[in-house]
Amino acid sequence: MAAQRIAVIPGDGIGKEVIPEGIKAIEAVSKMHGLEFEFDFFDWSCEYYIKTGKMMPADGLEQIKHHDAIYLGAVGYPGVPDHISLWGLLIPIRRMFDQYVNIRPVRLFPGIPCPLAGRKPEDIDFVVVRENVEGEYSEAGGRLYQGTDEEICIQESIFTRKGVDRILKYAFELAEKRKKHLTSATKSNGIVHTMPFWDERVTEMQKHYPVIAVDKFHIDILTANFVLHPDWFDVVVGSNLFGDILSDLGPAIAGTIGIAPSSNINPERRFPSMFEPVHGSAPDIAGKGFANPIGAIWSAALMLQHLGHEKAYQDIMKAIENVLTGGKHHTPDMGGTANTIACGDAIAGILQR
Ligand code: NAI
Ligand code: MG
Repeated sequence: MAAQRIAVIPGDGIGKEVIPEGIKAIEAVSKMHGLEFEFDFFDWSCEYYIKTGKMMPADGLEQIKHHDAIYLGAVGYPGVPDHISLWGLLIPIRRMFDQYVNIRPVRLFPGIPCPLAGRKPEDIDFVVVRENVEGEYSEAGGRLYQGTDEEICIQESIFTRKGVDRILKYAFELAEKRKKHLTSATKSNGIVHTMPFWDERVTEMQKHYPVIAVDKFHIDILTANFVLHPDWFDVVVGSNLFGDILSDLGPAIAGTIGIAPSSNINPERRFPSMFEPVHGSAPDIAGKGFANPIGAIWSAALMLQHLGHEKAYQDIMKAIENVLTGGKHHTPDMGGTANTIACGDAIAGILQR
């Protein structure tokens, strides 16, 4: 098999600290399984923006379009407004490569202190499926009469039947492979056009999946239920904004956002999919070398699974579980004292054995 090519964008802050640990794990597992990967590095980031006025070159998407996958750390740094870093790199990649599914698994691992009293690993194991290219994150809108008392700001949400149906279909199919339970995040009491439409499409899609039990919760009580009853959830599907919020809350109830992974998937495989930890560049801890690398390593495992290497995926997951259960290599966010490299080395070390 020819080497698979991976475009690596470490980005900013702790992105640059955790991505090398993910690559270390990939290299270790590749040796075990005789896999071959070629890594091409791109320095697109806020630093790049400060030098060039752009987050990536004008032909940036062209440069990574033919890679087999994209592996990203995080972008965003004080000094560059967050909407510039996000809309200059991450959102164009997600949209132009039609990565309309964002998968964010949430699991409580043995060995990780849970902030919810009395919860065990079997209580927290679900997946947030977030619509990734439309919804509330849209450029439609504008400002009028800026700086005057008459100032008006309008932000439009975009919900298309095609866009809603395809994310729901993906979520129902995932639920079929798991515990056959789907929860839809809505807010059709307050948001009177898009959310009743979303609910209608759920009801419509449900007819094709009679074996799946379906719940619908308004987003406000749904967040409360993540805390009070995390064991109620299996697959949780939401719009771009709701999915974003739920996928930080999910890892928080499972101990730390530092371990949370995500996949941005183009299911048709017309374009590369992108794999990245859920967390951002964490300027508050960047440069100290104590960031948790597990979100990045788990994301690397999901990338290998997507590229057809199920066994390598499972081996990395077992190594992660092993290190989490052991406790010796926990970073500070998991209650330990290990640094990023020691935690990454421990995982790669298990893979080499
Ligand atoms: P953040 O995820 O960077 O940090 C939130 C908190 O979690 C901080 O206290 C941080 O220290 C901690 N944390 C995050 N990852 C950690 C890890 N691996 N190990 C230990 N602790 C960790 O989110 P925040 O503060 O909202 O955003 C910071 C910057 O990152 C902003 O510029 C934001 O726009 C950007 N960002 C980028 C994302 C991306 O590239 N996908 C996602 C989220 C935020
Ligand atoms: Mg987020």
